[in-house]
Amino acid sequence: MKHWWKHTTIYQIYPRSFQDTNGDGIGDIQGLLSRLDYLKDLGIETIWISPMYKSPGKDFGYDISDYCAIDPLFGTLDEAIELIRAVHERKMKIVFDMVLNHTSNEHVWFQESSSSISNAKRDYYIWKKGKNNQPPNNWISMVGKSGWNFDPKTNEYYYSNFLSFQPDLNYRNPKVKEEMFQVMRFWLDKGVDGFRLDIFNSIYKDEGFLDNPFSFRYLPTPDNNDEAYFQEKKHTLNLPENFELAKEVRSLTESYPHEPFLIGEVSGNDKVLKGFLGEKEDGLNLVFQFELIDFQFRADFFRKIIAKNELEFPAPFQPTYVFGNHDQKRSISKVGGDVQKAKLLAFFQLTARGIPVIYYGEEIGMLEGTVPNHKGLDPIAQQNRWVPDWLSNLLGIYLNRDNCRTPMTWDDSPNAGFTSANPWNSYSPETKLRNVKKETVDPSSLLNLYQKLLHLRKSEASLHGGSISLLEGWRDDKDILAYERIAMGSQIQVYLNFGNVGREIRFDSSQYDPLYKSNASELFLLEPYEGMLLRKK
Ligand code: NOJ
Ligand code: CA
Repeated sequence: MKHWWKHTTIYQIYPRSFQDTNGDGIGDIQGLLSRLDYLKDLGIETIWISPMYKSPGKDFGYDISDYCAIDPLFGTLDEAIELIRAVHERKMKIVFDMVLNHTSNEHVWFQESSSSISNAKRDYYIWKKGKNNQPPNNWISMVGKSGWNFDPKTNEYYYSNFLSFQPDLNYRNPKVKEEMFQVMRFWLDKGVDGFRLDIFNSIYKDEGFLDNPFSFRYLPTPDNNDEAYFQEKKHTLNLPENFELAKEVRSLTESYPHEPFLIGEVSGNDKVLKGFLGEKEDGLNLVFQFELIDFQFRADFFRKIIAKNELEFPAPFQPTYVFGNHDQKRSISKVGGDVQKAKLLAFFQLTARGIPVIYYGEEIGMLEGTVPNHKGLDPIAQQNRWVPDWLSNLLGIYLNRDNCRTPMTWDDSPNAGFTSANPWNSYSPETKLRNVKKETVDPSSLLNLYQKLLHLRKSEASLHGGSISLLEGWRDDKDILAYERIAMGSQIQVYLNFGNVGREIRFDSSQYDPLYKSNASELFLLEPYEGMLLRKK
């Protein structure tokens, strides 16, 4: 289908935590293969897999030492090719994660580059002399420290916009760009359907190395990273060259007949996000919108998001709806683990106009893990191990990403059906209640709601491709969010009750048929946190 990515649903897999098959406690490609039918039955259309390339694993795969090899922890290149084939056989799509901004410091390029100032690969990275025994300028990385790292061997600093073992590549060197474009071609030639682009907005840094201006803002938020740690990241994030790069990468993917797509991890206001998409739909196909990460469980919060997205990202652009990922606290744990509330969030995500991005485990209401900051394996947790959990919770900063990366719970056995041995990370709480096996047979489960809505979304043109408008008469309602989706031959109304009291919704049954009700309560009653779909006759 032309522009298939405009109608798809994305499911993110953190491969370490999905399914282990060889008993080392770490998920692997054979495990992914064994669970493809689960995803197919669930109704998922596109799978995005966090990196599986060769890596020392200091940032669990986001530090890559060879982009054209699979890490032996996960399997082999042949197995990756088999995975691509098996996904396609099931009429699904597969998207790989692509980290263009930086490599691992164990990548052969960096080893060469750091070996001497005159090395032919010196210019593959961003090197600079210090100023009076200090870093070259005031640039602070995305993790809140100077991004400059001193190298005693060559007496210069290299720049990293994330962690110090992730040196940033220098895209002002045309050879670097070409090498990385070759990497993308390598995987596109093998059939991958696109890339999720890691911190794409960080790739270019100011050529003149100007200091970043002061900002009053200290802490970043999921949707605003460009002013943080008392700095406006004017010269290190969202440079105009990044918008140009988006167009170049788009031309690369457009040269493939299978229409691979790009979804960018970028942050900034809507103007910045639009810059990445390109004025003529000639940039990244999609960008993640992180405004739901800090959602408020209120009808007007979601109503405003819809209205804003219709204004800023009208068709043919597609908003994206993201409640969580491998860097953020799980959404269900933000509503106290309440499955009914999680159902309503999913109801919104799967019926609004836009691309839903589901994080593995969301569909079974998997809770956050409980590993304290000081015990985290995550390098961000290790860097902040002195920060007590009560303090990070109070400040609303998420430091130990182990907790959103716990193993998928498939059943209620001691190792949750994930592994036969010791898992690399501990399990989330309540695995006996919240698992695939139990929820599959419970018609009222969260898992069944996902499955039902994903299939309806696929079959109803208005849900996967129609327009959206807020329903008159409900625009000021405190608890009810109501909207309508319309496409040729398909018209559906959506009612979501964010309140904790039941509400009567009188609709004209000569004109509308109830298509789905999440609690299956009385016809004209919407229970607390219940959602309902009506189809125009
Ligand atoms: C963003 C990724 O989502 C995160 O997990 C990773 O640690 C950094 N980029 C560095 O690649
Ligand atoms: Ca394994």
